[in-house]
Amino acid sequence: MTGALQDRRALVTGGASGIGRAIAEAFAAEGARVVLLDRDSTLAEQAARDVDAAGSVVADVADEEQVRQAVTEAEQALGGIDVLVNAAGILTQSPLVEMSLAQWQQTIDVDLTGVFLTCRQVVPAMVRRGAGRVINIASQLAIKGGESLTHYSAAKAGVIGLTKALALEVARYGVLVNAIAPGPIETPLVDGISEDWKTAKRAELPLGRFGRPEEVAPTAVLLAGSPGGDLYVGQTLGPNSGDVMP
Ligand SMILES: NC(=O)c1ccc[n+]([C@@H]2O[C@H](COP(=O)([O-])OP(=O)(O)OC[C@H]3O[C@@H](n4cnc5c(N)ncnc54)[C@H](O)[C@@H]3O)[C@@H](O)[C@H]2O)c1
Repeated sequence: MTGALQDRRALVTGGASGIGRAIAEAFAAEGARVVLLDRDSTLAEQAARDVDAAGSVVADVADEEQVRQAVTEAEQALGGIDVLVNAAGILTQSPLVEMSLAQWQQTIDVDLTGVFLTCRQVVPAMVRRGAGRVINIASQLAIKGGESLTHYSAAKAGVIGLTKALALEVARYGVLVNAIAPGPIETPLVDGISEDWKTAKRAELPLGRFGRPEEVAPTAVLLAGSPGGDLYVGQTLGPNSGDVMP
């Protein structure tokens, strides 16, 4: 621990598991006070204890009213939010021609609209304070696409577009918005993916292996901190085992 985020107040969505949880843990280890937001209250409470977070709040990021309430609770608990990390996400697989509109819509709602809703709720106070960091977890599949993942790839490409556009809107107020586009990472999210897909994916990777959540978290620490994160505006950083070199 170096105290790189000493006394920063952070809200991490999807903080109960995987990449969000690892980011929450790394932030807390660097001195930040962290609240986890997740739809799974039991997992979130347990994770908050495990990673030394200040607490957890429950919301479905795709639900406008739940996001409003949860962000208000988090702001009250922390006294404000300096860093927002959007890591909540879902992943299902289906070829486009077999995909129902409901499956498409659910992925867009959680993986893209969820980012819009939390940003809209959190960013205005950052702008008023003249400082803040937003870190959106996209995916390399936004850049290269993924078979049977049109909904997910489209949502994540949307996250990168949202990141750039919002960065342009608020950089002049001292609020820096960036994205991280990880490659395949060993988390519960990929548990459901077929072994054939995973084997083929590993073979494509220059490193020959999936990453671990704690190998993504330091990129978020960089973007959240100063002076390391001070010049990143609308960027997409790629801890991705070399799968994409944009
Ligand atoms: N694992 C990977 O290979 C990988 C690669 C690139 C990007 N990502 C992205 O990283 C982020 C984190 O994924 P992960 O791999 O850690 O997955 P994970 O399943 O381990 O964690 C996701 C968390 O988000 C929460 N969540 C899901 N839907 C939610 C909702 N509607 N409202 C609130 N919380 C919700 C889950 O409860 C869970 O705690 C996601 O956005 C994912 O798309 C993952």
